[in-house]
Amino acid sequence: MVQKLKSLKVNSIMSSSPNRIVVESPSNIAFIKYWGKYGRQYPTNPSISMTLKNCKTIMDLEYTFEKSGVELFFEDELNEKFSLRIEKYLCSIEDILPEAKDLGLKIKSTNTFPHSAGIASSASAMSALGFALDKICTENKSIPHRASQLARLASGSASRSLMGPYAIWGEHDLIPGSSNDYALEATDIHENFLNMNDSILLIDKGEKSVSSSAGHALMNSHPYKEARVSQANENFRVMMNALATGDYDSFGNVLENEALSLHALMLTSDPSYILLKPLSLEFIQRLKFFRKEMPVYFTIDAGPNIHVIYPDSIKDAVVEFIEAFTKEHKIDAIHDSIGTGAKVLS
Ligand code: DP6
Repeated sequence: MVQKLKSLKVNSIMSSSPNRIVVESPSNIAFIKYWGKYGRQYPTNPSISMTLKNCKTIMDLEYTFEKSGVELFFEDELNEKFSLRIEKYLCSIEDILPEAKDLGLKIKSTNTFPHSAGIASSASAMSALGFALDKICTENKSIPHRASQLARLASGSASRSLMGPYAIWGEHDLIPGSSNDYALEATDIHENFLNMNDSILLIDKGEKSVSSSAGHALMNSHPYKEARVSQANENFRVMMNALATGDYDSFGNVLENEALSLHALMLTSDPSYILLKPLSLEFIQRLKFFRKEMPVYFTIDAGPNIHVIYPDSIKDAVVEFIEAFTKEHKIDAIHDSIGTGAKVLS
């Protein structure tokens, strides 16, 4: 079954009031995974992701420069835990955004994708927040990369959602100017990779047993930590080269190696944990079989859902294959495509 994304109720939350801004920011899917961090949310390896188009957060912010706390409404309901988290966050970013600690915010946040879909919403929500804060506090002193840096400090992968179609975060010799502080748009992309799709099979909609933050923390003492860092750096180099030259087979090979390595790290951490479900593996087997007919590859984030990545040219056949599987197993899928990042709506 196709899981329909919500149509945006933008009109109902738009306002021309001067102390109000409405932004949108999408989720992203990492091709080279950020896994492990140190210090102030710095990644232990570089990552690259494809920005999505339709899975996004719409955030409506009313603000004052008089400290009056933070109220966050998620899907129309006040979320006190999240409000507190944002209040703490605002106090922690004073060096980057001096105005932040004196901001009063009323935030209404809504996602186009269902909360229960198990899609990481932190990337879209936190990038929307970082993007909006940068705009609110800009007033002719726009600082390059600040929005991405603000997003990163709220959630690492959010740093990559602001731009598209591809974003790089983390230092690598291959990319001049690449930084652990913020993401950059990847510029050298072959046309073969400009019309890509991401169909997400919602294998299990339940809450994850181990959060990404806990997973990152387990990497600090992981026996394969060093090996992972060098693998990720090498995979990053091969991925960038494949994306630049249009080498689809090499792309697919590294894409799947990254996804399976991520889950292998979970299987071998102490304590170990397993986020994949039997149906995730069943689908991977089927996809490998289907690959004999169609050049299609998968990736997986820190959860059981499978992301099928493919170009427009084989879209009909891939969607038909996915729909047959989702129908057979009574699960949903979301069909999304490549996007360009965050924008101001009003
Ligand atoms: C597996 O960005 O969710 O999706 O920085 O603690 O908020 P925090 O973690 P988060 O980690 C995402 C990990 C990943 C891979 C990726 O997106 O690169």
